[in-house]
Amino acid sequence: MDSIEGVDQANGPAPHTLTIRYDAEADRVLIVDQTRLPHDYVEVELKTLADACYAISAMQVRGAPLIGVTAAFGVYLSLRGKEDITARNSVSQTVEALAATRPTAINLRWALTEVEASLARCDSDLAAAALNAALELHAQDIEACALLGEHGAQRLQELWEAKCERAAQAGLSKPERLNILTHCNAGSLATVDWGTALAVIYKAQARGIPLHVWVDETRPRNQGASLTCWELGQRGVAHTLIVDNAGGHLMQQGYVDCCVVGSDRTTLRGDVCNKIGTYLKALAAADNGIPFYVALPVSSIDFTLRDGLVEIPIEEREAEEVSHISGLDDQGIIRRVRLAPTGTVVSNYGFDVTPARLVSGLITERGIIAAHEAALTKLRDSLS
Ligand code: MRU
Repeated sequence: MDSIEGVDQANGPAPHTLTIRYDAEADRVLIVDQTRLPHDYVEVELKTLADACYAISAMQVRGAPLIGVTAAFGVYLSLRGKEDITARNSVSQTVEALAATRPTAINLRWALTEVEASLARCDSDLAAAALNAALELHAQDIEACALLGEHGAQRLQELWEAKCERAAQAGLSKPERLNILTHCNAGSLATVDWGTALAVIYKAQARGIPLHVWVDETRPRNQGASLTCWELGQRGVAHTLIVDNAGGHLMQQGYVDCCVVGSDRTTLRGDVCNKIGTYLKALAAADNGIPFYVALPVSSIDFTLRDGLVEIPIEEREAEEVSHISGLDDQGIIRRVRLAPTGTVVSNYGFDVTPARLVSGLITERGIIAAHEAALTKLRDSLS
């Protein structure tokens, strides 16, 4: 894997590049290496299937929609340069290797199934067919996220207008801003572009709604602190970083108007699996009467599962993600330091499930859908 370009974030904004892109002239697949953000903005080339598998499992790319699209390009990289017969014989092993990289986000399997279906329909030049399928998923993801962002922005506009109206009725001055709380990174970095939860915010900002985002740091990997703060900063959205446990207090004090998060897998009955800690935010939101929305493309819905608590495989990652932490020291050097005593037993669940009853609505490219089996069944049936 070659490094293409580095930009020191201390010295200015990064170019707005898609998280993954195909350079057709040079036949190269390029990703932004998210393990280097926010300190370095570096694009690296994925050259082989092993590169694609590594990028997903080491979280150079992460976020449910993005790992799906990366896996699709991984199939292309594996078939590139192979005779059709050899390529055909290697497809199932390739798909297995990519599917094994991360267990929770359904987009990974969904994207691989889409690519496999395209290959099954094709008689010759399998590599070209895999590339076309990957490019199609790439374009679809951008379109879906932009669209769901618009649907969500409409809901934020209604919440903003209601907040202004309440203030006017109470004889108070116009509120300063609409406060949104988000968890992890469900932004453009988690998709090809736009994001899911953050697409809603970007589209609402474009409508002129004064927004402020509370960003959960999202231990252990700190995607909120390092990625969400970075991309909100790049796009000029007012935000404040908080520790993961602060959300409940802020909600009790009236400092949160709405929560918007993403999803790695949502079931037919509307249970939402997302980054560990999401469930506790949903509980606190329900206790305080605060709307809790989940923004997701339809590709994040697993229509084959009903009970998210029982049926969704929850990723468990290395203990070092919890026992250690890394960051930039005062000399500008990235260092990893130990937090817990040597030998401490660690558990590191990556995701949790928020039951449908705590979800105010699912913001999708097909509109805002109730987190109920009837609504999701209707959506499923409209897709076939
Ligand atoms: O472990 P990660 O960083 O891949 O987890 C990402 C999330 O939990 C996101 O909220 C989710 O994938 C939705 S992304 C649009």
